[in-house]
Parts: sequence; C-alpha cells; structure tokens
Amino acid sequence: MITEKMAKALNDQINAELYSAYLYLAMASWAGTQGMRGASNWFFIQAREEMTHVWRFYDYVSSQGHQVILDAIAKPPSEFKSLGHAFDETLAHEKMVTGLINDLVATARSENDNATAIFLHWYVTEQVEEEESVAEIIDQLKLAGDVGSGLLMVDKDLGARPFNMPADLATKG
Ligand code: FEO
Repeated sequence: MITEKMAKALNDQINAELYSAYLYLAMASWAGTQGMRGASNWFFIQAREEMTHVWRFYDYVSSQGHQVILDAIAKPPSEFKSLGHAFDETLAHEKMVTGLINDLVATARSENDNATAIFLHWYVTEQVEEEESVAEIIDQLKLAGDVGSGLLMVDKDLGARPFNMPADLATKG
C-alpha cells in the first residue's frame, strides 16, 4: 500500500496530466483554425496520449486502495504566434512534466516505496521520448522554415502521426 503522501503526490500528477491533455487540445484546435491540419492531428493525438497517462495513474492509485481526487484544471493558452512557438511551448511544458516525474520518483524513494518507484519508470522513459520527439520537430521547423512551403512540408509529416493505444490499456473498460 502507498502512503497518504504518495497518494496525494500521484493525485497531483493526474491533474498535471489532465492539464497536458487540455493544453494540447487547445493547440490542436488553434492549429486547425490556422489551416495546419497535420499539426492539428499531431496535437490531438498528443492530447489522447496524455489521457492514457491519466488512466495509468488513475489505475495505479485505485489499485492501491486510494480515491482519485480530481481538482480543477487550469485554463490553457489559446493563442500562439506560430507553429514554432506552439512547439517551443510544448517542449517547455514537457521539460516541466519531466521535473514533476523526477519529483515523484524522489518522493517514492523517500517513502521507501519501491513499487511506486518501479511504476514510475514507465513515465521516466516516456518523458525522454516525448522531449526527443518534440525537439526533433522544432529542429525540422528551423530547417524547413516556420512559414510557406517549408511549413507545409512539416505539417504534412505531422499529419502522418498515428495514435497507438498502449496494449495494457486497450482491454480496459
Ligand atoms: Fe504526460 Fe507529455 O507527459
């Protein structure tokens, strides 16, 4: 069983993951209204992935006999200067989330909670992948250009991103 302190920290992270989904949904809609259908697809899928992060925490907190306490979700921004700006914001946000996950690992260790530390490994790896993939898109936008035909090319690539439901969550009702 996890401690109250650990349960509270995991509940706080559920709110942070919900905010992430909210932020990327806002970006998806903004990109769509700017004619960037590919980027809109990318952000929408990012939002769906964030919801799988929520479910994973939800399941874990529940499996440990604790109630999931939902808090208000902060209002995300709705205006971005350019696609490059939106992805810069995305990278900054993911770096912040990485910090939160590292804090959770530190809490698990201080609570002598090996089960939660092992559970959190998945998120540690996921954050490395998320930061890497966003940094790659920022590099592409810098190379191709954040306007005109370069932007069109990057937007086309972003439109090819599929959503893959993690196998361990696919069978959950
Ligand atoms: Fe759930 Fe993008 O971290």
